[in-house]
Order: sequence, then structure tokens, then C-alpha cells
Amino acid sequence: MKTKMYLYSLLVVFITVSCGTQTEKFPRFLSFDTGWKFHHGELTGATHSIFDDSEWQSLDLPHDWSVELPFSKESGEIATAHTVGGTGWYRKNFTLQPEQENKIIQLYFEGAYMETEVWLNGRKVDEHPYGYTSFFCDISSYCNPVGEENTLAVKVSSPGKNSRWYAGAGIYRHVRMITADRLHFDNWGVFITTPAVTEEKAIVHISTDISNDTDDLQEFEVIFQVKDNTNKVAGEKIVHLTTLKADEKLTLYGEVELEKPSLWSIETPILYTATVSIQTGNRIGDEVSESFGIRSISFDTEKGFLLNGQTLKLKGGCVHHDNGLLGAASIDRAEEKKVEWLKTNGFNAVRCAHNPPSEKFLEACDRMGILVMDEAFDQWQKMKNPEDYHRFFDEWHEKDVVSMVKRDRNHPSIILWSIGNEIKERADLSGVEIAKRLKSIVQEQDTTRPVTAAINDFWDNPGLKWEDSERAFSMLDVCGYNYKWDKYENDMELFPDRILVGTESTAMECAENWDLVEKYPNIIGDFIWTAIDYLGESGIGHAVEVKNGEKEPPLFLDYPWFNAWCGDIDICGNKKPQSLLRDVVWNESKITMAVHKPLPEGYYESISYWGWREEYPEWNWKGHENQPLTVRVFTRYPAVRLYLNGQLLEEKAVSTEHPTKYTALFSVEYQAGELKATGVESGEEKESVILRTAGAPTKIRLTPDRTQIKNSRNDLSYIRIELIDKEGFVVPDADCQVRLSISGQGEIAASGNASPTDMESFRSLTPTTFHGKALAIVRPTGQSGVIVLKAVAEGLPETSVEIKVNFIH
Ligand code: GAL
Repeated sequence: MKTKMYLYSLLVVFITVSCGTQTEKFPRFLSFDTGWKFHHGELTGATHSIFDDSEWQSLDLPHDWSVELPFSKESGEIATAHTVGGTGWYRKNFTLQPEQENKIIQLYFEGAYMETEVWLNGRKVDEHPYGYTSFFCDISSYCNPVGEENTLAVKVSSPGKNSRWYAGAGIYRHVRMITADRLHFDNWGVFITTPAVTEEKAIVHISTDISNDTDDLQEFEVIFQVKDNTNKVAGEKIVHLTTLKADEKLTLYGEVELEKPSLWSIETPILYTATVSIQTGNRIGDEVSESFGIRSISFDTEKGFLLNGQTLKLKGGCVHHDNGLLGAASIDRAEEKKVEWLKTNGFNAVRCAHNPPSEKFLEACDRMGILVMDEAFDQWQKMKNPEDYHRFFDEWHEKDVVSMVKRDRNHPSIILWSIGNEIKERADLSGVEIAKRLKSIVQEQDTTRPVTAAINDFWDNPGLKWEDSERAFSMLDVCGYNYKWDKYENDMELFPDRILVGTESTAMECAENWDLVEKYPNIIGDFIWTAIDYLGESGIGHAVEVKNGEKEPPLFLDYPWFNAWCGDIDICGNKKPQSLLRDVVWNESKITMAVHKPLPEGYYESISYWGWREEYPEWNWKGHENQPLTVRVFTRYPAVRLYLNGQLLEEKAVSTEHPTKYTALFSVEYQAGELKATGVESGEEKESVILRTAGAPTKIRLTPDRTQIKNSRNDLSYIRIELIDKEGFVVPDADCQVRLSISGQGEIAASGNASPTDMESFRSLTPTTFHGKALAIVRPTGQSGVIVLKAVAEGLPETSVEIKVNFIH
């Protein structure tokens, strides 16, 4: 078998603020998130300084206006969760400080959806159409002199049908002001790799792009320093005296050797810090500090994907960029929270569908040890929707791919670049040419990772057959298959040097997919659609009751559906039933169990391709006493014994054939109490899973994910709201509306449940529980102190929880 090999190592970076020892200290990166004014709607004159914005809404970024407005049948589309885009204007005034005199001043927009225009003091500075890539605007020559006020105006437009999912609208990621010396490191100009990694030694290679934007020749030294995770200097290298003429650029390399490095892995995601500094005489000028990890990756047809030389199968999930109840607003803790959900649910890899994610998401993946497929586009030249990115592709694709790769290439978590998802022209001659070009743009910035794309069936190209996929795969280093696991074996015979990955698969077919991943070394993993529910593509993962004789509903469901409902995890972070099977398939759990909701007489259940049966890990089925209920036990044990209230009901063999593999199916006459399933191997009882009938609710339980948070607008506390009985068990069948109130140094940023059809605004303070649960997300005001969240419901006493808000670095 021919071996394809990509063997590279990487040391990684995210840029943070530092000013070294220079006297005229001014933060190189300054958060520009606070003190904005906002207006939703078209306007003229808002670019001018004298425009009166006093009536506009005051807010802090990140901001998504479309989640603030109520969902409604009238607004928006099924695709975008019945929300509206349109045009939004943002304004902010600022004054440069004396320390900024004669510096390069830039604004960094991490993400604004979409068609952003940036104006300063009435003059247009820049525009950026793609809503998912980050960009810089050099405002040095647009700013008023130090001490005089400047007015920044940003127009964001989200016109017509521009997305297949909920995109959000507005400046939904961070904005920063960059103040740099005129002799400086370029934006994203630091690239670190480790050309050699062993447990004994690592070579850290740091490349820096430096520009001299002064009027004179500059003489300087560049210092490269690496510190370990205890802040101890692990290695240092000074590049001796270099000169650079005015208006010229130069790339300098430094290599630092580390003895006995701590390798970055998914179990031990250890990060180092690198600092690069420019020293002129005795003065430290521009300086950038970054954290990074050391690891090697390779892709091989015989050994699959290897991390630090060890084969690792990717237990992957696709996620969109939205943060559930917060919409697209990319608050740091919300990004981290999603990664926590992935990690605690057994995922070791994530595909960022279908666009680059936020920086904080990637930083969280670095810190927690989740591998990432970073993806550029959902369309190239051919549109999926009339107002989508295809309008800008020709002019902008290069800048956008460069933005993705240069911004993200230092993250140890990223192992694959994807150039597109289900691209219409993927097998056309034009598509093959574009793939070639996109790949070469990626490789100009980074050759340490392979390039992939998600290739699907040709339902969107009548006339083409799966055999034509050869053209679509021809430019790819790793071949991404969307829902085509049934073609793996045949394709591997035809193309034995192919490395395959399931870029999308459904929950119902997870066992078929994973068995193939386990069987063949060159199938490196599987990414399910999706790991976490997302807004929009409403009802794609539905299971609904339909009257006998009536036809199945369409794939997408209209109002009041607004959530895709195909995730393993819901938008509040709860496990969905499909994750019970996946836990077993991925060996994360020994045994799990779910009970099918009884179907009313005369109805059948219609389940979409991305859906899952209406079954729950619950034993509260009041009103169905003595009726037979369908119970599914998922396990890798060969047999299962099922007990009801201590009585053995039955022992059954677990299916070994798809599509029911890993499942034992029972029919049980319902009696309240305790249902227990025990795995059996060679006649011996092993692990068990128990479902109990909860009593009537007596209390609301509030459980914050952390009781102490930072006094930062970027921190959050996720507070679980549960109806519980007197013994503390969650009551899944007595849902009610909860009234929330808050006092102290915090606000309720969002509340809601995970129901795909409960369209109550996420900004309401009266969420209704769903299967006994809801969620409140609390955001600090920025001041230290205490936050008290209270909850009360009809017939249930008020309960409260306290969260400390502290100054923590
Ligand atoms: C796929 C597509 C995803 C999503 C999914 C389910 O074909 O790549 O973006 O649309 O279907 O609807």
C-alpha cells in the first residue's frame, strides 16, 4: 500500500498583549468592545462625526441583534431560525493618547456578519464582505491628532437570503485596537513550528515577518524566548544585529532547542509561551507574547492519523458558530463552554462547520485538548442562496483563506484545513481548478497540515454519479465524505492510497460509521452532524407524530420549529438520546438506556434522516400504567438483563447486526418505580444503568457551573434550572414556567430551554422547563461583588443562588 505522509510538528501561538520594557507603555492590543452605540435599520449620514446618535442603544460587543428580537412566524426564514438580518449601524468615539503619537494604529475585527464597512471621521477606511473571517483596518492616516475625538462608524449588512443556517447579525466577535511601533511585527506574522519533536528534545522554529514603516534605516536585534507552563525560561535565542531599510519588510527565523519538552496531546494539552521582541540599542520595541503547544502530526494510509507518533481515531462532531441562547455573540466563556460540552461528551475532535470559528473557541480547544478541522467556505462561485458569499468569492477568496490560515496556523489543536463543504462545482473542471488554487493559497501560509474538503453525493448535480467524485477528491490530501460511508470500502479498493474521514454522518448511522473507522487504518475518524444543536435549518433532525394515513412532513419544519435538533447535545448542554448510543459505540459508557415516548393511538412516528426517535432516559410515564413501552438498552455486552422494581423481567441478547447493533430491545409494561438494565457477559452481571420515577416537583434547583467568576464582561455563569422532587430527582413530566430575577453585579444575558419548538425569546425572564430543565446565563456587569439569581414558579417556593464576582487575572 502506498504511503502518504505528512509529518510535521508545530509549536503554537495566540497573540496576547505585551509591551516589554519600553517606557512609553501603551497596550499593543486594547479591547475595543465597550462603549458602542447601535441602530438597527438603514440610515444616511451616520458615517459623519456630527451625526446625532444619542438616541441609539448603548451596548458592548460582542453583539448579535437578531437574537435580541423575538422569534416570530413572520420574521425570517426556516433556514435562519425565524430571525431577521437587515442593516445595523455601530458607532464609537475615541481619542488617541500621547503614547500613541507616531505609532501604527489599526482596528482588528474578529468577526462581523456580514458586508462590513468601516468609516472613520466620515471617510471610508475599508470593507470586508465575508462574515466569518477576521480582518485589520489601518486607521493611522484617518485618525485626528492625539487629544482630538474620532468617530468610528461601522455598517453591517445581512441582506436577503445569505445563509443556510442561523448566522446572527452584527459585530458578533471582538474588536481590538492595535498600537504598534513603526518598526514592528506584522499582523499574524509570527509562525512557529517544531521541525523535530521527541520526548528528549524539540526544535522550536519561529519565523517572524517584520516591517520598517519608519522613514529611516533601522538597526535592531530580535530576541526569541520560550517559557514553559510554570513560566520558567526554557530556551532563548537572540538574532544579532540586523538592518532594515525604510518601507521594507523582512522575515527572520529563530530556532530554540528545548530539552525534554512536555508534548501537547488531547490528554495533556500543555502549553508553552513564546515571546518575540525587537530590541533597538537598549530599548525593547515591539514585542509579542504567545502561548503554544509542542506536538507532531502525521497522516498515513497504514497508520491513520498520528499525534506524537501514536494512532488516534477522531471522535468528531460538527458545530456551527452560534452559542445557542446567546445567538452568535461570541462571549469568551460561551466559546469555552461549547468546548467543555464536547470534551465531557467524549468528542476528541471538532469540525468548524462551515467557516472559521472564534479565536476563543480555538484557544479553548488548545487548552482542553480537542483536535480541530478549520473550514473556510460553504460555497465557492456557485451559490446555495442568492445573497450568499458566492457574490464575493472571486474577489475575496484569497484574502479570506489567508485570513483563516494565518490567524489560526499556530493552534496546536488544528490538524486539518478544509477548503469547503458540499461545494456545488466540486466535480466540475472549474471546481477542480478552484480546489487547486485554494490548496496552494493554504500551502503558501502553512505546509504543516493537509488539506481536505467535505464531498457529498451528487443530488445537487443531476447527471453526475458517485464515480465523478474522483475529480472532487483529486486535489485533497485527506478525502472528506459527507454521509457516504457506504462507499468507503469500494473507494479504498479503487484508490488504495486514499486517507478518508467522515466529515458528516447521522446519529442513526453512527455505529455503521464507527465500525468502519475501527476496521480500517486509513479511515481516520467520523464527524457527526452535529455535536451540538444549532439555530436554523429548523427541524432537520425531527421525529414527529403523524396521523396514520397522513403523509410525512417535509425535511425542514416551519414555525414553531427554529432549531435544527440533530445534535448529540442540546443548546443548553444536555445530552440528547442519540448520545446514549454514541457513548457505547465510542466506548465512553458501558451501558445506557432510553424509553420510547408512547405513540398515541392511530399515529406513527416520522423520523428525518438526521433525526432520532423520541426516546428519553426517563421512567415517568404517568397515564400509561400497564401499557407496553419500548425500552432500548445500548451496550457492547453480549446480553442484558432488565429488572423492574427488583424483579427480573427478561434477559436478551444484544444485536450484533446493523442497523440495530449494540441494542437490546424490550417491551415493558409500565409501572412507576425503578427500571434497571444490567450488562451480562459469560453469565456474569456487569455494569448497570437505572431509571427512576420521580415524584411531584417540590422545589426548583439552581446549579451554577461555577460559583465564582471573573468581573469581566467575557465571563458567564451557566445556571441549570431543574424541577426536583423531594428526593432531589429531576421531574421530567411536570414542566412549568419559571420566573427569574437577578440582583447584584450581573445581568441575565439569556434564558431558555432546549426545546426546538419553544419560541419564547431567549431574552425573556420566564423560561418554561423542558423535561424538567431550563438554563439561565448570567453575565457580570464588570464590577466585583455578588450576583443573586432567584427563581420561582406557580406552587413552588422561591429559591436563589449566589455567585461571587471577583477580580481574577
Ligand atoms: C449537510 C450539510 C450541512 C447541513 C446538513 C443537515 O448536507 O453539509 O451543512 O445542512 O446537511 O441539514
